[in-house]
Amino acid sequence: MAVRNSIVGIDSPGALQGALAGAQYIAGEELATAGYLSLALGKPLLLEGAPGVGKTEAAKAIGAVLGRRVVRLQCFEGIDASAALYEWNYPRQMLAIRQAGEEYVNIYADHFLLERPMLEVLRNPDSTVLLIDEVDRSDHEFEAFLLEFLSDFQISIPETGTVRATARPVVILTSNRTRELHEALRRRCVYHWIDYPGAELEAQIVMARASTVARKTADAVVAAVRQLREQPLVKPPGVAETIEWSEAATLLNSQGAPWPEAFRRAIGVALKDHDDLEFIRPHLDSILQGVAA
Ligand SMILES: Nc1ncnc2c1ncn2[C@@H]1O[C@H](COP(=O)(O)OP(=O)(O)OP(=O)(O)O)[C@@H](O)[C@H]1O
Ligand SMILES: [Mg+2]
Repeated sequence: MAVRNSIVGIDSPGALQGALAGAQYIAGEELATAGYLSLALGKPLLLEGAPGVGKTEAAKAIGAVLGRRVVRLQCFEGIDASAALYEWNYPRQMLAIRQAGEEYVNIYADHFLLERPMLEVLRNPDSTVLLIDEVDRSDHEFEAFLLEFLSDFQISIPETGTVRATARPVVILTSNRTRELHEALRRRCVYHWIDYPGAELEAQIVMARASTVARKTADAVVAAVRQLREQPLVKPPGVAETIEWSEAATLLNSQGAPWPEAFRRAIGVALKDHDDLEFIRPHLDSILQGVAA
């Protein structure tokens, strides 16, 4: 299988970074480099990071940049091959047998096969991106199975034969790191840890995503969110919360709430845990004091 080095127009990390920005995804240089290398070398991209730092969105944006459909495999505890690869449609097979009477029915014909994400991508490697989301939620057995898939890009369907990708699929895995992934799985990937963005980058993200928000509001929210993340919270605000807090405060302000009162009133879109809210309440004034909007 040829190394993927000819993704149209994406011939450098900077080119990918620019294209992602065009898809409203603001990537730092390191993420753009990891993404570029993953595409250029034909290796899966493994993105790890805290909740809400933009892992899933990165995969969607890469799909958009490549003009490909993102096929998402959401992992969960107990996920197995039938959820990931394919299943036979038993009810339809039974029905067909019953309707056929004495006639012969090929119950392993393609139209009885229910394609799941991995098979779908193997069959359409040039028009899809496979997103294996939150792989840390699956168990070790499934990880071993993934490993095999990512090595050969082929699967064997006992009843019909082997399906092999005609080109190397683009694969992006995400993990919240609730557990360590297997060394062998990491080795097959280009790895990038997505950190919370720096202040400038996060303000740019808000501006890219929230059309109603003024730059100084974005700066103020980013400054406040960065302080919140330093606190021992159960659920520190992710980038999505920064965006929503900016939008919500802007809305309340437009309806008459003054700054920084608008931020305080909209706090429920930034912090969504009762204990966190109770913990922060006494400090919120001082956090907001310093952030002029
Ligand atoms: N770099 C970015 N550029 C533009 N938008 C971003 C960026 N990072 C995050 N976002 C925004 O934040 C939201 C949350 O990101 P996303 O769902 O990708 O997080 P995640 O890391 O997958 O979180 P989780 O671990 O909870 O699944 C996105 O819908 C998007 O609006
Ligand atoms: Mg996600």
